[in-house]
Amino acid sequence: MIVGVPREIAPGERRVALVPDAVKGLCADGLEVRVETGAGTEAGFSDEAYAAAGARLESGAAAILGGSDLVLKVQPPRERPDGGHEVDDLRAGSTLIAFLRPLDEPQLAKRLAAQGVTAFSMELMPRITRAQSMDALSAMSTIAGYRAVLLAAAALPKIFPMMVTAAGTISPARVLVIGAGVAGLQAIATARRLGAVVDAYDTRPAVKEQVESLGARFVELDLDTADAEGAGGYAKAQDEAFYARQRELLGKRVAAADVVITTALVPGQRAPLLIDEAAVGAMRPGSVIVDLAAEQGGNCAGTQPDRTVSVGGVSIIGATNLPSEIPANSSQMYAKVVVTFLKHLMSDGQLVLDLEDEITSGALLTHEGKIVNEAVRARAEGDPGGSR
Ligand code: NAI
Repeated sequence: MIVGVPREIAPGERRVALVPDAVKGLCADGLEVRVETGAGTEAGFSDEAYAAAGARLESGAAAILGGSDLVLKVQPPRERPDGGHEVDDLRAGSTLIAFLRPLDEPQLAKRLAAQGVTAFSMELMPRITRAQSMDALSAMSTIAGYRAVLLAAAALPKIFPMMVTAAGTISPARVLVIGAGVAGLQAIATARRLGAVVDAYDTRPAVKEQVESLGARFVELDLDTADAEGAGGYAKAQDEAFYARQRELLGKRVAAADVVITTALVPGQRAPLLIDEAAVGAMRPGSVIVDLAAEQGGNCAGTQPDRTVSVGGVSIIGATNLPSEIPANSSQMYAKVVVTFLKHLMSDGQLVLDLEDEITSGALLTHEGKIVNEAVRARAEGDPGGSR
């Protein structure tokens, strides 16, 4: 079986789907791995390192996309600068594993199905214990949570730790983390390591203990969250009255913070608005908000994806692809997760799809010319727009 790894062409994307160590493992298992020249350069992996690991280097994405039985990517296939589309280069009957943004880009799923590609979307990986080592979203959220704190620390006109010096005592920065899932917990741990005083809030009461075990205080709000957790450990959507009350109750905490990191997401929905303009206005100038929900509409009023804006002296950082800013480790983790998934799909060196298996069928987006994920199919049929 030929496994192909093209260079990512999405603007700003520095990750690569396989790192040399992962290539070595696949070659040892008898697979042939082809990597586009320069695919790993931005992540710190040279063509020589891939060649030494056993990969065949090829120039030009078309040869990789069209000549492989299995294509591994990070970002969804997209239009190339020359006007062609990466999907058109994929061979009918080939398999693709990547982040495919299925609920946001249902038309891409339609295109993949029409091309006859069997596509697995890493976002659809079921949230079950058995699949934890194949969970690319969590791996990337870990990096994003860490990076968010570094961005905030660099932008803040203060230091994070308390310092007692001959030139006086400096009090520690106060960090508020809203949404204590995978990214939020890593943000808490990172801010604590830098010496900040950290508060955190999440609508899922189950995370209180995890927040406290990292040395942060769990913020208690007078909100009924008994029913806040849905399937797979994700948050359930609440009504607008709930969010209005949450904004009101969080306002004081936001105003007292030097840094607010927001990560609150509800799968398949616009991110809840948790910090309104009044709350931003009540923050001290110089304060920093890093909004990790920027791509899903933002948790903060005023967030602009991929931009940092200043509102009354408060910097609002609309982060969308922080894993790409730490491409070496992100690629290493992504490769590990993808290879684990690939091994799950393989038998005797070939892909053998067991559609009865919860992990295989859960992550499967398109197969035999059809979109097989029901939620995505419904969106694709109801959404006449083209793929982005
Ligand atoms: P996510 O990225 O969808 O959401 C981030 C966080 O925002 C969640 O903790 C959510 O509860 C929180 N949130 C949503 N609405 C909020 C609001 N209005 N106010 C405050 N917080 C709000 O979720 P993520 O981080 O990917 O995972 C959440 C949890 O799922 C994990 O902590 C874990 O318990 C579970 N999980 C299980 C896995 C498995 O079993 N394989 C894998 C990954 C996560």
